[in-house]
Amino acid sequence: MERTFIMIKPDGVQRSLIGEIVSRFEKRGLKLVGAKLLDVNKELAESHYAEHRERPFFGELVSFITSSPVFAMVWEGPNAISIARTMMGKTNPVDSMPGTIRGDYAVSLGMNIIHGSDSSESAAREIAMWFNEADVISYEKTI
Ligand code: CMP
Repeated sequence: MERTFIMIKPDGVQRSLIGEIVSRFEKRGLKLVGAKLLDVNKELAESHYAEHRERPFFGELVSFITSSPVFAMVWEGPNAISIARTMMGKTNPVDSMPGTIRGDYAVSLGMNIIHGSDSSESAAREIAMWFNEADVISYEKTI
């Protein structure tokens, strides 16, 4: 069983895609174990994207993520990290197939709607960074 961190970025929230995206993950069979709508402060944005700190687009990325609310989630299931990444499509929407989230809703690399952890190490780091332990819920699906 795996957990992954998924964030609907400001463009996804502004375009009212929260319900559509949550629905896709639910229907696929992943289990929602944590969720919150929040304004991201600069410190959290810079830590989350620390690996891109030296890139020329880092400032733009941080200012975009802090510009309006994001919807942060933790999804659980077998192979949740790679399943979510396949559902999201490639980072650059130009390369994302129709049927994927970015392939259906995005055209720009900077505004690519959604972020998802790319490895189990990133998932552990990102979940711990975005959620208190008590706000990620373990429960069984019984129906
Ligand atoms: P994400 O999966 O959130 O991880 C890093 C983000 O940086 C990526 O999605 C893109 O939205 C963004 N990004 C990557 N390359 C560029 C770029 N050249 N210009 C602007 N944003 C970029």
